[in-house]
Amino acid sequence: MIRSRLLGSGSALPKRCVSNAELAAQVDTSDEWIVERTGIRQRYIAGDDETTSSLATAAAKAAIADAGIEAGSIDLIVLATATPDNTFPATATKVQHALGCNGGIAFDVAAVCSGFLYALSTADSMLRTGMAKRALVIGAETFSRILDWEDRTTCVLFGDGAGAIVLEASEAGEGADSPGILTSKLHADGAQHDLLYVDGGPSTTQTVGHLRMKGREVFRHAVVNLAEVLKETIEDVGITADQIDWVVPHQANKRILDATAKKMGIAPERVVVTVDQHANTSAASVPLALDTARKDGRINPGDLILLEAMGGGFTWGASLIRL
Ligand code: UT7
Repeated sequence: MIRSRLLGSGSALPKRCVSNAELAAQVDTSDEWIVERTGIRQRYIAGDDETTSSLATAAAKAAIADAGIEAGSIDLIVLATATPDNTFPATATKVQHALGCNGGIAFDVAAVCSGFLYALSTADSMLRTGMAKRALVIGAETFSRILDWEDRTTCVLFGDGAGAIVLEASEAGEGADSPGILTSKLHADGAQHDLLYVDGGPSTTQTVGHLRMKGREVFRHAVVNLAEVLKETIEDVGITADQIDWVVPHQANKRILDATAKKMGIAPERVVVTVDQHANTSAASVPLALDTARKDGRINPGDLILLEAMGGGFTWGASLIRL
């Protein structure tokens, strides 16, 4: 059988790091409140010369170098973002051109914070059906550009960044021990639109708009939905939670990570936490966390990893990967 195997990962952050204390000088908040309620200590904010595509390209180049392949061998780019450079064309096409691998497939996926899971699953399906051989899956965002910097309930929570992985279609054996993406489960519930959305867009206001969120309600849904999709994912592969080496979750709030792990019976030491360093980078958060934990030696070849995310839409999903 064919499975999509991870060959490498990379990530990129803007140059400017902004601490909670710096934010507290601008809006009515405090380092104490942010750390206690979210676990966030700092975030990176894009400068004038940094865009979603420039961060995505830097992350993609790092992933390609890590995989030890030529950029020209990439024939599929799926880029998850809710903050594209332009309304169109897809940011993925800009990245493709910057990498010099023109001619293959390139498109964006919009599923906000679950975007990387949606992009991963889409690329995996295309690799397994033979539409492409080597894929770049990227999550990249500049959420700082859609934040209302006077709204303390949202502006302290998000940051900018990008993460990327290279996947290759390769022959694999059956079963959970053989490397590759083992399964992905995705969901959406459009009834929850008003809990997390941007109040602008080309077809409505002709403006970019600002992020609006009812945080407490999103929190409640996140823990329930994530626990359900994690259960569905591990049951599909026929494993138990204690066989998972690392959970790489969307990094929205440390309390959501703790509550979900507890519900699943997963030890907190096996959950990759980067929200303290990067804050919530939406579609970039899962690949950023994955790359961080691979590069610092926590995640190793042969590990069974579970990726999961939940975000605006609502959308949510999970993937199990044997490295
Ligand atoms: O990535 C997509 C998914 N997004 C998420 O998963 C986010 C989910 N939600 C959350 O992470 C949390 O709900 C928040 C971090 C957004 C908020 O934490 P909370 O513990 O749910 O706080 P809250 O909204 O219930 O607000 C508690 C208090 C309020 O004051 P009162 O009404 O109790 O007087 C807020 O006005 O905290 C106040 N508050 C702040 N205080 C200082 C809200 N934001 C701030 C702030 N600094 N930045």
